[in-house]
Amino acid sequence: MHIKSAEFLMSNSDVAKCPKNRLPEYAFIGRSNVGKSSLINMLMQRKNLAKTSGRPGKTQLINHFIINKSWYLVDLPGYGYARVSKSSKKTFQKFITNYFEKRTQMVLAFVLIDCRLEPQPIDLEFMEWMGESGIPFNIIFTKADKLKPNALNRNVEAYIQKMLETWEAMPQYFITSASNFTGRDELLNYIDELNAT
Ligand code: GTP
Ligand code: MG
Repeated sequence: MHIKSAEFLMSNSDVAKCPKNRLPEYAFIGRSNVGKSSLINMLMQRKNLAKTSGRPGKTQLINHFIINKSWYLVDLPGYGYARVSKSSKKTFQKFITNYFEKRTQMVLAFVLIDCRLEPQPIDLEFMEWMGESGIPFNIIFTKADKLKPNALNRNVEAYIQKMLETWEAMPQYFITSASNFTGRDELLNYIDELNAT
């Protein structure tokens, strides 16, 4: 897919205020600091379209971007950031779960996983919740540039084995790096195909 345009549209904490039309939508979700906003910038080849930070908790709202005037890309706040207060953690989770339950035009969510870490309970639980709620998702392993190929393969293989303890099959997955553009073509072509069906 060739990116002709990528524009920021709106930020919201209220799902009811998100765009009303039925353009296909793809959401990026995962733990704080996993690289959601960076991946969006990499895909769009724009440095600061989505705001990024070395400190977790940067993205706080539901951010809609419109791509090629024909589909939406959504940057979401991270879950599981320990330093936000308990009450704000709850509000986060509530509006994130609300987003997924109400946003029926969302074609697919990409759950981002840091390829360096062993499977984390919070991610596994989140994906279980997605499954129970019937929300379609794929997995993206991020920060692939941080590992040597062998270590990367080992971690991905271990993740697949862990997933197979609870899932019948490993969901479709991608390996990306926002630093060196790994996975960009594959991911964009995949979205292109979904948009065409
Ligand atoms: P929140 O908005 O806080 O939930 O975080 P986020 O998931 O949007 O993460 P963000 O894109 O802001 O990136 C967090 C940190 O990881 C930043 O310091 C990024 O530069 C770094 N980072 C993200 N992706 C990559 C990557 O592919 N490779 C490397 N080396 N660093 C990355
Ligand atoms: Mg972010």
